[in-house]
Amino acid sequence: MATRRNVLLHKLWICFITFLYFSTESLSQTDNYIVHMDLSVMPKIFAGQHQWYLSTLASVSDVAGIGTASVATFTASSKLLYSYTHVVNGFSASLTPSELEALKKSPGYISSIKDLPVKHDTTHSPKYLGLTPQSPVWKASNYGDGIVIGLVDTGAWPESESYNDHGMPEIPATWRGECEAGAQFTSSLCNKKLIGARFFNKGLIAKQPNVTISMNSTRDTDGHGTHTSSTAAGNYVEGASYFGYSKGTASGVAPRAHVAMYKALWDEGSSATDIIAAIDQAISDGVDVLSISLGKDGLPLNEDPIALATFAAMEKNIFVSTSAGNEGPIHATLHNGIPWVLTVAAGTLDREFDAVLTLGNGISIAGSSFYLGSSSFSEVPIVFMDGCHIAREMIKIGPKIVVCQGAFDSNDLSDQIENVSSANVTAGVFITNFTDTEGFISNGFPVVIVSLKDGKTIIDYIKNSNSPQASAEFRKTNLGIKPAPRVTSFSSRGPSASCPLVMKPDIMAPGSLILAAWPQNIAVGLNKSQPLFSNFNILSGTSMACPHAAGVAALLRKAHPDWSPAAIRSAMVTTADTTDNSMEPIKDIGFGNRIYPASPLDMGAGQVNPNNALDPGLIYDVNSTDYVRLLCATNFTEKQIQVITGSSSTDCSNPSNDLNYPSFIAYFNEKNSPSNLTILREFHRTVTNVGEGICSYTASVTPMSGLKVNVMPDKLAFKTKYEKLSYKLTIEGPALLDEKVTFGFLVWADSGGKYVVRSPIVATSLSPELSRKK
Ligand SMILES: *[C@@H]1O[C@H](CO)[C@@H](O)[C@H](O)[C@H]1NC(C)=O
Ligand SMILES: *[C@@H]1O[C@H](CO)[C@@H](O)[C@H](O)[C@H]1NC(C)=O
Ligand SMILES: *[C@@H]1O[C@H](CO)[C@@H](O)[C@H](O)[C@H]1NC(C)=O
Ligand SMILES: *[C@@H]1O[C@H](CO)[C@@H](O)[C@H](O)[C@H]1NC(C)=O
Ligand SMILES: *[C@@H]1O[C@H](CO)[C@@H](O)[C@H](O)[C@H]1NC(C)=O
Ligand SMILES: *[C@@H]1O[C@H](CO)[C@@H](O)[C@H](O)[C@H]1NC(C)=O
Ligand SMILES: *[C@@H]1O[C@H](CO)[C@@H](O)[C@H](O)[C@H]1NC(C)=O
Ligand SMILES: *[C@@H]1O[C@H](CO)[C@@H](O)[C@H](O)[C@H]1NC(C)=O
Ligand SMILES: *[C@@H]1O[C@H](CO)[C@@H](O)[C@H](O)[C@H]1NC(C)=O
Repeated sequence: MATRRNVLLHKLWICFITFLYFSTESLSQTDNYIVHMDLSVMPKIFAGQHQWYLSTLASVSDVAGIGTASVATFTASSKLLYSYTHVVNGFSASLTPSELEALKKSPGYISSIKDLPVKHDTTHSPKYLGLTPQSPVWKASNYGDGIVIGLVDTGAWPESESYNDHGMPEIPATWRGECEAGAQFTSSLCNKKLIGARFFNKGLIAKQPNVTISMNSTRDTDGHGTHTSSTAAGNYVEGASYFGYSKGTASGVAPRAHVAMYKALWDEGSSATDIIAAIDQAISDGVDVLSISLGKDGLPLNEDPIALATFAAMEKNIFVSTSAGNEGPIHATLHNGIPWVLTVAAGTLDREFDAVLTLGNGISIAGSSFYLGSSSFSEVPIVFMDGCHIAREMIKIGPKIVVCQGAFDSNDLSDQIENVSSANVTAGVFITNFTDTEGFISNGFPVVIVSLKDGKTIIDYIKNSNSPQASAEFRKTNLGIKPAPRVTSFSSRGPSASCPLVMKPDIMAPGSLILAAWPQNIAVGLNKSQPLFSNFNILSGTSMACPHAAGVAALLRKAHPDWSPAAIRSAMVTTADTTDNSMEPIKDIGFGNRIYPASPLDMGAGQVNPNNALDPGLIYDVNSTDYVRLLCATNFTEKQIQVITGSSSTDCSNPSNDLNYPSFIAYFNEKNSPSNLTILREFHRTVTNVGEGICSYTASVTPMSGLKVNVMPDKLAFKTKYEKLSYKLTIEGPALLDEKVTFGFLVWADSGGKYVVRSPIVATSLSPELSRKK
């Protein structure tokens, strides 16, 4: 029956195309819209919402008045991109302006947003979280055994060794996902590691009707999705390395968790309608954790596809990890500052890629380098060129190592490197006190960056030698680098402009020079002009930090199946490390390696510590009602809130701008106020005892200059496990704070000395505002 119908439809389709041929103007003006509908007014005659949406589209179609009813119905089904089930009450469709206007007058129409492209969060292409076989969290969670991590990304390269299913548990009986066949992808390519593979591109194709999809399947032709998914849950691969850098056994954070890939980012572009459809499907399929290393800057919550789609995920108890973005180090640049997800900043590892220079006098000096060409060269003449600015002189040097100094910031350094690398010399040694050098060392030209002190040794040698020369060895990996972690400069900073009431980012995870799986047929770099291929690649970005946190969430989900997503987030936040491996406060690389400690607007509560998060003592729980109360306290209309929550009614009888969040942000930003005016900011929190039954906690607050912080009561005595107790925190300060950002920490410590439950407190004079960016 279906087949016959298709033949009929096919004929109608031809008519339709003929018709369109004469109305290319309206076709060229079509755009994709995500349309929210009020399900409560759906007429009873419809079997379900899908039929209702089709009928609504048929009635507004531009061809409705011209063709027969079946033409209109067929046109409607070609206009409808997706009927959403969980994440949105509504659908997405490709509409002309007049169709959109007609739709706005249809019964049940609430609102619509125009489609947007969304980008993944990797910057430059160039285990350290305490996870060892002995670590409590791997033991308690059995390495994330049986948890399903879904990723919305560029796809998966199923042949990667990181997706081998050796030692993997059976696919969960509750799993409803699929391994969809497509171009160069059969359903037999999935296994007990990669258990789901689906792809979404209807929205992209509707927006670019002439586009050719080069790989119409879940197969990854970019590499990003293979990298992020293996970071979260890759299986063990022995002998992994990147041309000798970072050698060892590779594994994801939750090596026994399953991976489900939802490809919605394409080489040809992306569409929010596809991303929402991917998340909708992941919810239907039954993922436990979602890792979303993408986002869109400058959107209010009610227009942000990630915010809309993840509210339903949270309601279904799915933990969502997202990337903060790579627009740092300027404040209020982060995206995904959404109250019901985890927002992850990127930090450095304690690992450095080096070259070792050995001078003619035998002295060896290490400097950062990430050169992929020859692994060494010996006894090359070395010359000192000071500023390396005169391109004419540089060209005449020939096959020598050139030493440059005087670069104090990224512009100087990139000028020097450009001059030297275009001069056909053997190698360049750059002396600088600038330490945010990650973006300069990933290079097809041998760049070695050394400190001022080592630089002086090199210059002294050159000046005192008749025929100075040096040898170099590349591809050295140094572990145990101090200090680490540090906040990367690219990691986007809080506060969240889309929801300033909630302190973001939440946490930091490794996102700098991360080694993970890579498609073998996608070049990772060039050696001279020859493409280089590898099964692993080293990438940086909050895209790389997000799946680390998703992996940790998978371990916690397994160890504590009864915890809500907010409880898991709370455990990660309140147990994060605030000190680095020198036992100093974590630093921010920020603008040229500031010596100041990183603030919570840079790193959230600190570096995620999976073993501590397993047993946090207390948790700050939040449920969907609490998020709605928060939305009610902002300036969203009830309809806008319904768009976010996907609910057909909103109870705003009890608004609250005070979410039970494990961190605090207070604004002292009232400009034009009398200078002696002080204001009081008040926060109420409720903690649940998930540690020992009987226990008591005492509060302490680190001093914050110019502010009075008070906790009432400052003792909490629990009699039973799961008991909830409340307290109030107040911050009194000037109406307009002098400092942009002042911060401290509230610590609840138990009398047994076992638990330290730490919450960051930020006081700021900033007024984050949404600035829309492409
Ligand atoms: C799509 O292709 C048609 C036919 O080749 C052409 O007329 C039209 O301009 C193209 N549209 C775009 C947006 O490139
Ligand atoms: C991509 O594959 C799907 C499913 O196999 C198919 O329905 C669709 O028409 C294909 N799209 C393109 C552009 O080839
Ligand atoms: C790059 O090419 C050189 C020869 O020109 C070779 O010695 C070196 O091993 C190559 N590097 C890689 C990573 O293949
Ligand atoms: C070399 O340095 C000079 C002076 O800083 C600069 O003007 C020029 O653009 C540089 N050339 C290259 C190729 O970077
Ligand atoms: C670069 O230097 C090598 C020898 O060091 C020489 O053979 C080659 O021709 C030079 N290339 C250019 C573009 O000057
Ligand atoms: C680097 O040295 C220059 C010149 O001495 C100085 O102005 C600058 O502040 C230094 N930068 C850092 C990050 O130490
Ligand atoms: C959320 O928690 C509050 C108490 O904090 C409770 O009153 C409310 O019923 C809960 N809502 C849901 C949906 O569980
Ligand atoms: C809500 O709107 C009022 C009046 O327009 C404004 O004063 C207030 O700052 C707004 N609040 C937020 C959270 O945007
Ligand atoms: C603040 O300053 C104004 C003007 O200097 C003064 O009239 C007022 O009494 C002061 N208020 C307080 C609370 O000190």
